[in-house]
Amino acid sequence: MRSMFCRLAALMVMATSVWTHMSMITPCPRYNSLGVGCPALPPGQAIDYNESSPIASGGVALQPFCKYATPWPTPAARWTAGQSITVDFAEYGSEHDGGMCEWSLSYDNGKSFVVINRVLGRCFFDAQNNYVFNYTFTLPANVPGSDSAIFAWSWVNAMGNREFYMNCADVVIDGTSESFSGPQMTVLNYPGYPTVPEFMGNYSTGLEYYNNAPTITVYAKANQTTTTSTTTAMTAYPPQSSPPSTMT
Ligand SMILES: *[C@@H]1O[C@H](CO)[C@@H](O)[C@H](O)[C@H]1NC(C)=O
Ligand SMILES: *[C@@H]1O[C@H](CO)[C@@H](O)[C@H](O)[C@H]1NC(C)=O
Ligand SMILES: *[C@@H]1O[C@H](CO)[C@@H](O)[C@H](O)[C@H]1NC(C)=O
Ligand SMILES: *[C@@H]1O[C@H](CO)[C@@H](O)[C@H](O)[C@H]1NC(C)=O
Repeated sequence: MRSMFCRLAALMVMATSVWTHMSMITPCPRYNSLGVGCPALPPGQAIDYNESSPIASGGVALQPFCKYATPWPTPAARWTAGQSITVDFAEYGSEHDGGMCEWSLSYDNGKSFVVINRVLGRCFFDAQNNYVFNYTFTLPANVPGSDSAIFAWSWVNAMGNREFYMNCADVVIDGTSESFSGPQMTVLNYPGYPTVPEFMGNYSTGLEYYNNAPTITVYAKANQTTTTSTTTAMTAYPPQSSPPSTMT
């Protein structure tokens, strides 16, 4: 009886981990049902109750980048360049043994994304192996201002089906810089991009793609994104396996 209950419980946990993964909740991603402080839905759009599912799995694209193309009609957050920001994740999620997380900004309506923070290796875990459901870091002081920037979280999971996750929140940024340069967001496990295997405890798996991400420059005015080199700004964005605090 007891063992049957245990097996049932284990099955339920497995079933849950198959269908629920991770979701950013603040700033509120487009249409996210779990989001906190969300703007009103754009006309014609529906709340996303599948908010923590990947946008690609097993070589199949399930959704486009950002999941949805239509921005929030009003911003999910208003930030000032140089300020500290906190990004929260839903606490019921399945962390898939961590993996590679990036936080990026787009100034051209989602065509290009420049990385502003990375936790590579075991994001969602700290050095003591505790879950981490929020990250606080500084918005670089020289990111341009914009009333229609996109703030994205992207994730390559360490364990399980080979997936790519991406949530996007529309934000206003107050800032005077005209441009910002940093690594281009790394996309893996999405059709047309490289696939990395399950990490199997090697948290450097796929790290070369992050280390070799081209440096791009984004501008306050849309449509001017340029790729300036194919070597990454590793001094500004050192890879790490843990803990995330060294990244802040
Ligand atoms: C939710 O996302 C999964 C992919 O992770 C997909 O297979 C499923 O069809 C989606 N469900 C809905 C209701 O969109
Ligand atoms: C981040 O998460 C930790 C652990 O759950 C919690 O104690 C802390 O208050 C959170 N911090 C913020 C800024 O949300
Ligand atoms: C871990 O993965 C990296 C990147 O693929 C590889 O270079 C390295 O040899 C691997 N380490 C081990 C111990 O397998
Ligand atoms: C967009 O690109 C065109 C052609 O390069 C340029 O003339 C225009 O100024 C750009 N628009 C903005 C808003 O930057």
